[in-house]
Amino acid sequence: MTAAAVEDSIIWSDDFMIGIKELDYEHRGLITEINELHANLRGQADQERIGDTLGRILARLHAHFALEEHVMAEGKYAHFAEHKAEHDLLIDEYTEHMFKFRSNPTPAARQALEAVLRQWIVNHILSSDKKMSLMINSDDPA
Ligand SMILES: [Fe+2]
Ligand SMILES: [Fe+2]
Repeated sequence: MTAAAVEDSIIWSDDFMIGIKELDYEHRGLITEINELHANLRGQADQERIGDTLGRILARLHAHFALEEHVMAEGKYAHFAEHKAEHDLLIDEYTEHMFKFRSNPTPAARQALEAVLRQWIVNHILSSDKKMSLMINSDDPA
């Protein structure tokens, strides 16, 4: 997949599928939410509505990472610690940029916030999550 330009929506495609059904479902939901935020930011949405979407994304990220970490622990994934560290860093960076944007919603703050979500999440799914699912699924005797 080519990296999405910041002015485009992220188009869900099979490239994002990692082969673990519940995680694929959540990734798809996250991308839908990120696109909704993008539309809100580009359109005339008020700060309250944008704030709601930002909060929902944070809640979804927490829930998604908790589920994925459970899957990794169950699958005795060898790279659990480094994968979890990526999740923790993403939460930290997203939270930091979310607060910066909410206190001072400049175009630069908006771009930084969207860049964190897009590059981080898209790259994380395409590399780290895929690597994890390949290793877990290959160890699975089923
Ligand atoms: Fe994930
Ligand atoms: Fe992950």
